[in-house]
Amino acid sequence: MNKLAATPGFLHGGDYNPDQWLDHPEILKQDLKLMQQAHINTVTVGVFSWALEEPTEGVYNFGWLDRVFAEMAKIHGHVILATPSGARPHWLSQKYPEVNRVDENGRRHTHGFRHNHCYSSPVYREKVRQINTKLAERYGQNPTLLMWHASNEYSGECYCNLCQSNWRRWLQRKYSSLDALNRAWCLSVWSGLYSDWSQVLPPSPLGETKVHGMDLDWKRFVTAMTIDFYQQEIQPLRELTPNIPITTNFMADGPANQQYTPMVGLDYSKFAKAVDVVSWDSYPEWHNNYETVAETAMKTAYIHDQFWSLKHQPFLVMESTPSYVNWAQYNKAKQPGMHILSSFQQLAHGSDSTLYFQIRQAQGNSEKFHGAVIGHDGTADNRVFQEVATYGAQLEKLAEIKGATKDVRVAIIFDWESQWAFDRGGGFGRPTRLGIQTLQKHYAIFWGQDIACDIVTPDADLSRYKLVVAPMLYLQRPATMQALQAYVAQGGTLVSSYFSGMVDEDDRVLLGGLPTPLRELFGIKRRELDTLLPGEHYHVHYGSNVYPTHDYDEVIEAETANVLATYTDNFYQATPAVTQHHYQQGTAYYLAARMDRDFLTAFYAKIIAKLQLANSFVIAPSYEVSCQTRYQNGYQYHFLMNFSETPQTVKLQRSTLDLLTGTPVEKTVTLAKYGVMVLREKA
Ligand code: GLA
Ligand code: ZN
Repeated sequence: MNKLAATPGFLHGGDYNPDQWLDHPEILKQDLKLMQQAHINTVTVGVFSWALEEPTEGVYNFGWLDRVFAEMAKIHGHVILATPSGARPHWLSQKYPEVNRVDENGRRHTHGFRHNHCYSSPVYREKVRQINTKLAERYGQNPTLLMWHASNEYSGECYCNLCQSNWRRWLQRKYSSLDALNRAWCLSVWSGLYSDWSQVLPPSPLGETKVHGMDLDWKRFVTAMTIDFYQQEIQPLRELTPNIPITTNFMADGPANQQYTPMVGLDYSKFAKAVDVVSWDSYPEWHNNYETVAETAMKTAYIHDQFWSLKHQPFLVMESTPSYVNWAQYNKAKQPGMHILSSFQQLAHGSDSTLYFQIRQAQGNSEKFHGAVIGHDGTADNRVFQEVATYGAQLEKLAEIKGATKDVRVAIIFDWESQWAFDRGGGFGRPTRLGIQTLQKHYAIFWGQDIACDIVTPDADLSRYKLVVAPMLYLQRPATMQALQAYVAQGGTLVSSYFSGMVDEDDRVLLGGLPTPLRELFGIKRRELDTLLPGEHYHVHYGSNVYPTHDYDEVIEAETANVLATYTDNFYQATPAVTQHHYQQGTAYYLAARMDRDFLTAFYAKIIAKLQLANSFVIAPSYEVSCQTRYQNGYQYHFLMNFSETPQTVKLQRSTLDLLTGTPVEKTVTLAKYGVMVLREKA
């Protein structure tokens, strides 16, 4: 068992930068006291400390870090030790300028900012290996070391000559011959055929921007390079500290454009295989002016569930903010109660930690107005600090839940490669593609009814699910189609839609209409797809209601499928809009049009009833109150969370024990505004 798994209780703490306060010993002393008051048991240190750890090449300075370990040991706390490759020291960029990234316009950057090194550079890799070896040698056996935090938020790409050579080598390994590459990327279009490997460059605004297959491969390559860099970076840690688990903090995209989704830049399904524990940095935009708190909670829940699903194991929230961030347009404070509510939501969906960026607010430089546990006032007499401390004390009462698992019967399929291809392709509606946003619309139906969902890639073991939801699965490999077929054949229920199975893994259109395996599975023929303009709606008659369509109406023909709904207008009036097909032991549904929540609610209501997916604890769940359940040692732990501004009464099937107060509770409970309860019962 690795050290994290063997450690009892949830982790509470976060990024700590004593290196910013070395000339203030009184502050460092104060930190330790305040951490204890806030029930903090974990610090993440050294994330950006390379310049201090190795002030000049080959000269090391670890005294300050030794003291952090010693101090944390005094309070029986843990250290998550970062490798410092996220931001390099000046001397390194100066002496070896090739470690600086080259951008897509071919410009070599000068030193500055962070997360901007070349992933290929042998010098950079060597320097990282050296400092990481030193850290592992010095702290690897220290009992206070809990885990490794490799680098920070890996992202971005480099276009230097070394990276270009690696790109060509990667393509040569993948395609063997230039002919195969020319065919895969359809390069006879616009005279793009290569006659020599040396002609192959990365996509760039100065050169090639239009070859979709190239863009898709470039994204695969960037993921492969990033993981390769990470693998090399952790090699000394693996060798010297085999029992210390390693993670790196993943990210979400947004919140921008009112959207909040897992980051798509790197294929995290691949990256997750290389880490021992998944962790991510969670910064939802609570209390915004474009959606309800419940809606923000739904999107955040989706991301938590996706990170859970990467390994089907507890993950860590590596960063979150106790109050506000500093990088948004408007950096709002969390209202009273929101910090505790949003932190419990992390645990509810499978996190074993609540960690913050950061413990003490910086005095200067770029993040001085980012929220922190200890603010510029430096006291405990502070609303944010008090809320963190209250939460920390509550966490201690829930120690038995750490490591608990989940029981999930519904999966939504998300494929990074499909998303990349889908976003890239021309045609249809640019602003209305909304791949992940559409998945979140489907997810919202289940989240709103307290039915747990996984978000998995197409190669996942689907047999564990009663329902698989795979709308707009644009890119499909033969193996994906076979897996979907096999899942339904063996009794599964599948929901898919327009925009599914349109291109192969090279982003080439699958000829002949809906590919045969999908045609057999759904019992339909695909005719054409109409893109609707903003404000343009047609209608679908389903049950006893008529629902508006938007963005996309596909015209299909039912071959062996039953027609459940038809269009009521436009040139496809009276043709099928929703179908159901019994395929061997299972059932496959097809949604030809994009419709909103009212339709999805009505549509899924029948499936939820038929498959008996309804939550077995909460009676008549509401959208504002979420219930998520974790399981361990014969107990169920229900997290009840009120994402609304008014008190909510919830009716439950059984009486339970309230773990936060230690008292039994009846079958009706009332949650205050933003209130939370953690209820335990025998499974
Ligand atoms: C990221 C980084 C941190 C910090 C926070 C601020 O998640 O990893 O170093 O900059 O953002 O929100
Ligand atoms: Zn490079």
